[in-house]
Amino acid sequence: MTTGARTTGTRTTGTTVRAVVRERYGDPGVLRVVHRALPAPTGDEVHVRVAAAGVAMGDWHLVTGLPSVMRLVTGLRAPREHGVGLDLAGTVEAVGPDVPDLRPGDRVLGCGRAAFAEVAVTRGRRLAALPAHVPAEVAAAVPTSGTTALHALRAGRVGAWTRVLVLGAGGGVGTLAVRLAVLAGAEVTAATGRPRLADALRAAGAVAVLDRSAGAAPGAGYDAVLVTGGLTPLRDLRRLLAPRGSLVLVGAEGGGRVLGGGLARQARAAALDPWVRYRLRSVVSRENPADLAHLRDLLADGALAPVLDRTFPLAEAAAAIDHVASGAARGKVVLTVS
Ligand SMILES: NC(=O)c1ccc[n+]([C@@H]2O[C@H](COP(=O)([O-])OP(=O)(O)OC[C@H]3O[C@@H](n4cnc5c(N)ncnc54)[C@H](OP(=O)(O)O)[C@@H]3O)[C@@H](O)[C@H]2O)c1
Repeated sequence: MTTGARTTGTRTTGTTVRAVVRERYGDPGVLRVVHRALPAPTGDEVHVRVAAAGVAMGDWHLVTGLPSVMRLVTGLRAPREHGVGLDLAGTVEAVGPDVPDLRPGDRVLGCGRAAFAEVAVTRGRRLAALPAHVPAEVAAAVPTSGTTALHALRAGRVGAWTRVLVLGAGGGVGTLAVRLAVLAGAEVTAATGRPRLADALRAAGAVAVLDRSAGAAPGAGYDAVLVTGGLTPLRDLRRLLAPRGSLVLVGAEGGGRVLGGGLARQARAAALDPWVRYRLRSVVSRENPADLAHLRDLLADGALAPVLDRTFPLAEAAAAIDHVASGAARGKVVLTVS
């Protein structure tokens, strides 16, 4: 809801917007929609009128505060940041004085700390211009998951002619990793527990789609294996690799509440890596302007088209996060905001 005065240039007064917030950690039921006053942007701040916001497992982690080791960064007893949501696409509403390249009215995609809102506050360097022909819900699906997929491919030295297995190819990161690996010239095998995505994964360029519940072809000798989920032990994952191949751990759910099974496995991988012939890498991804612009360009020329599962309205952000966390989503989930 917007009341009172409108934005002019870099000044915003009397504007309140609906935003999804929480004051404590808990399941997504702790989320509330409130009306929030917006002060005028300062420095390199940018206000973006959000058209669509991407939903990811990262949102579930930030809302629940699990695994609890992450609270060292996000706030020990309660979350420091009350807003929720990382990825957005929309239109610039107002800019601070230190933002040289964006103007009110510009379409953008990118990241923020509270993207589940009618207007999100972020910084100029976290945004990239978005061409008019790319739908907002398509663009909002890409920033964090796409950047993570790119970083995973780099960690695995994936390039032309490499043989890659994406183990867990049906989620937000997995579907994008398959397409980005194909665009890098790799021969990509997609292993998924979501057989209904097989056609989409083949259309993205995967040469083979495997049922991961049947076990992903031990001894296949992949140059790189990207793992987006599951707590399969390292000794089993290494059997999928060529002798000097790369095992890239993106993330995994489950395990202990303090460290989490995925982080614990990543810690073991870091300790083991110096002693083995194959490469063990973990991805800790953060968006950056160059990768955001690269992903935007791929969206703009149609080379990258994220697999969209479904959309939810802003008021149903909790249901959207629950849907992603349930494992039922095929590809990306997006909130449509305005
Ligand atoms: N390191 C980072 O910087 C970073 C950044 C973003 C996300 N992450 C983490 O990466 C993981 C994936 O994120 P997401 O956004 O893609 O989540 P998502 O959309 O919920 O997808 C979950 C993924 O887990 C896979 N999976 C589930 N059980 C599996 C198993 N037993 N073996 C192999 N794969 C399995 C699924 O594969 P199917 O398609 O086969 O069902 C799916 O691809 C999450 O744990 C997330 O927290 C890490």
